Amino acid sequence: MKILLAGGAGYIGSHTALCLLEKGYDVVVMDNLLNASPEALRRVEKMTGKQVALEVGDCCDIARTREVFAAHKPDAVIHFAGLKAVGESVAKPLYYYQNNLIATMTLCQVMKEYDCNILVFSSSATVYGLATEMPLRETVPTGGTNPYAWTKIMSEQILQDVAKTDDSRSFVLLRYFNPIGAHESGHIGEDPTGIPNNLMPYICQVASGKLDYLRVFGDDYPTRDGTGERDYLHVMDLAEGHVAAIEYAKDHKGAEAFNLGTGTAYSVMDIVKNFEKANDLTIPYQVTPRRPGDIAVCYADPSKARELLGWEAKRDLYTMCRDAWNWQKQNPRGYEK
Ligand code: NAD
Ligand code: UFG
Repeated sequence: MKILLAGGAGYIGSHTALCLLEKGYDVVVMDNLLNASPEALRRVEKMTGKQVALEVGDCCDIARTREVFAAHKPDAVIHFAGLKAVGESVAKPLYYYQNNLIATMTLCQVMKEYDCNILVFSSSATVYGLATEMPLRETVPTGGTNPYAWTKIMSEQILQDVAKTDDSRSFVLLRYFNPIGAHESGHIGEDPTGIPNNLMPYICQVASGKLDYLRVFGDDYPTRDGTGERDYLHVMDLAEGHVAAIEYAKDHKGAEAFNLGTGTAYSVMDIVKNFEKANDLTIPYQVTPRRPGDIAVCYADPSKARELLGWEAKRDLYTMCRDAWNWQKQNPRGYEK
C-alpha cells in the first residue's frame, strides 16, 4: 500500500514515515519545505534501508498536487501539511486560513479525482478550546481560541461534510495532544526554527546552553503545583497511532475523530524534574506571568483510540525526556537547514 504524507518532511511526518516503512508500506512525501529539511527524510531512508520519494511542492497548488498524484497514485494520504504556531496565527490569520484550509480542500478534491479514499488528518487537542471537562472525550463540543485552532476545527468540519455526501470516503481525524521526544536513535527529531514556542524544545535548548533559562509561564494555576498541566506523548507513540489509523480506515467508511494522548497530565515542573533526572542535568528556570491564551489543564480520554484503533501510548515520561535530549545532544544545530 502506498501512502502519501503531505507535510511529511516535518517533525511528526518524518517519524511516521519511519514507522510506515518499517511496517512495509511505501511512502511518498509532498512538502513545500517551509518548516522542514530534506535531511530528515534522508536519515529515515538510512535508518530503514528503504526509499522515500520526496516531491517538493505546495499542497495548496492544485496543479502540482495533481502531478504528484498522477506520478505516484497513492492509496491513502496522511495530511500533516499545516502551519502550527499559535502566536503567528493570531498575527497573520489570513496566512493560516489560506494555507491550512486550502491544503485540506485541495488534497480532498485531488484524492477524489484519483480515486484515493483514505485520509488521516492531523488535528489537535486545540479544537477543545477552553473546555474544562477533563479528561477530554471526543464528544466535548469544539471551539477555537485562535486562528490556528479554527483551521483545525474548520478542516475537521469540511472533512465531516464531504464524508457525509460520499460514502466511498474514509477519514480519520487524529486529535494530537502534546507530542514530544524523538526517535530513540537520536537521528531524527524536532527542529524548530528560531526560539522555540513549545516547552520541550525550549528545555532542550536551555540544557544545551543555547538559551539561559526556562521561563515557567505561571505558577498560580489551580493545579497540583500551580504550573500548567498537559498530556505529553512520545512522538513515536504518536507515529504508531497513524499506522493504526490507516489500518482502521481500510474497513471503516465515514469520518471519525480520535484523541491521541496518554490520559495522564504532567505539569511544567514535572517535565523539568523528569528531564533533569533522566539526563542528569540541571535546568535553570524562573517563574514569569502566565502566557496569554494558555489554559490550566488539558488531557485526553484516550479510550476511543484504544477500543477502535487498538492503539495505546506505551512510552513513559522518562523515555520522552531521555529521547528529546539524545536528539538535541547529537544534533545541536538540528538538521542545519
Ligand atoms: P511541522 O511544521 O514539523 O510539519 C508540517 C510540515 O508541513 C512541514 O514540513 C511544512 O514544511 C509542511 N507544510 C506546511 N504547509 C504546507 C503546504 N501548504 N504544502 C506542503 N507542505 C506544507 O509540524 P509537526 O509538528 O510535524 O505537525 C504536523 C501536523 O500536526 C500539523 O498540521 C500540526 O498543525 C499538527 N499538530 C502538531 C502538534 C505539535 O505539537 N507538533 C500538535 C497538534 C497538531
Ligand atoms: N510553557 C512554559 N514555558 C515555555 C513554554 C511552555 O512554561 O517556554 C508551558 C505552557 O504554559 C504550558 C505547557 O508549558 O503550560 C505546554 O506548552 P506548549 O507550548 O509546549 O504546548 P501547548 O499545550 O500550549 O500547545 C501545544 C501546541 C498547540 C496544540 C496543543 C495541543 O503548541 O499547537 O499543544 O495539541 F494545539
